[in-house]
Amino acid sequence: MNWNTLAVTAGRDALRQGGAVSPPVDRAATRIFADLDAIEEAHASGKLSAFLGSRTPDQTADAIALLEGSDCEAIITSSGMSALTATFLATLSAGDHLLLPDSVFGPTRDVASGLLARLGIESSYYHPLASEESFRTGLRPNTKLVLTESPGSNTFEIQDIPMIVGASHAAGALVAIDNSWATPILFRPLAFGVDISVCAATKYLAGHSDTILGTVAARPELAAKLRTTLRQMGDTPGPDDAWLLARGLRTLPLRMRQHDASARIVAEALRQFPQVRQVLHPAFADVPGHDNWKRDFYGASGLFGVLLDPMDRNQISAFLGKLDLFQLGFSWGGFESLVLPISLGTSRKILGQPEGTLLRLHVGLEDPEDLISDLQRAFAIFQSKSPELERVT
Ligand SMILES: Cc1ncc(COP(=O)(O)O)c(C=O)c1O
Repeated sequence: MNWNTLAVTAGRDALRQGGAVSPPVDRAATRIFADLDAIEEAHASGKLSAFLGSRTPDQTADAIALLEGSDCEAIITSSGMSALTATFLATLSAGDHLLLPDSVFGPTRDVASGLLARLGIESSYYHPLASEESFRTGLRPNTKLVLTESPGSNTFEIQDIPMIVGASHAAGALVAIDNSWATPILFRPLAFGVDISVCAATKYLAGHSDTILGTVAARPELAAKLRTTLRQMGDTPGPDDAWLLARGLRTLPLRMRQHDASARIVAEALRQFPQVRQVLHPAFADVPGHDNWKRDFYGASGLFGVLLDPMDRNQISAFLGKLDLFQLGFSWGGFESLVLPISLGTSRKILGQPEGTLLRLHVGLEDPEDLISDLQRAFAIFQSKSPELERVT
């Protein structure tokens, strides 16, 4: 089935739902059984929702599994972070080693250096665009998991996933991916041999900036380990959030197409401003890893970086103050455009700091021409005798 059709049909059966097109929210903490046989059968199923709690997260997970493909099982988690932490805790034990890309999402780095280090799990970093030879040097005899995140947070390097999967599997390590940027609509990790596909469903999957959730997808035996770990973590996403995610999925391919089309128009327009040094959009040939993107992805989403001439705090503040449609905010993947000044700090050990002022833009579903006008108003402050800059400098 085509992905557009799957997104509409997956995980729902109107006739078994009393005719309702959209599955009703199942709010339940406990369930009542007719007899001992029934309760034993439910318990043996291994699915918590068979005997306790809401069925909505599992129903939504079934839809995610169809989108992820490769006969996987999926699980909904209470955040993207809990999906990542569960991935680590399900696959790593004291004495094991985790290999992460240096471009990884900051809070993921914090889990490695905090929780995992306390549990006796080592971690180290590799260049997200390492050659196979260089990547192999990062693998240790005790490396049990390699994390990928493609593109990398804030600097948007697209990784060579087939190479990483081949080298990691040959060394006996599993591979997981944070696929929040692409979603399975733009990149299908499991089809590339990745063992665990993680998404912050908070972003595009739910897509409306109104719920925090995560997803993990893996082959059944790994999914069972993840399910047990999440149960032990006490990670139980709420039925209403899971329902919002299911609703978001229905328009996911459509939204991704529009984010992609609009973001490319805006990214192209940004290149024309003299203050812009580089637009870090994976569809642009000068962005590191572009060839991997072209080979492996079905498109780009709406999140990319813009490297500007160095600006001081006052200039950044004046620039952001002129933006109306690009609102200042964390997180991304909703219908609205966002802007965020990025400070990479000193945590990265391998990748250098980009030279200039780095902004992260999320292009939402507004008209791209309106978004370009918004940016034009903000860049106008750099014209000579701009009252905004005189006021702040
Ligand atoms: C790449 C990436 N992964 C994971 C997360 C965490 O997701 P959540 O906010 O749902 O915990 C984020 C959030 O910004 C992210 O950008």
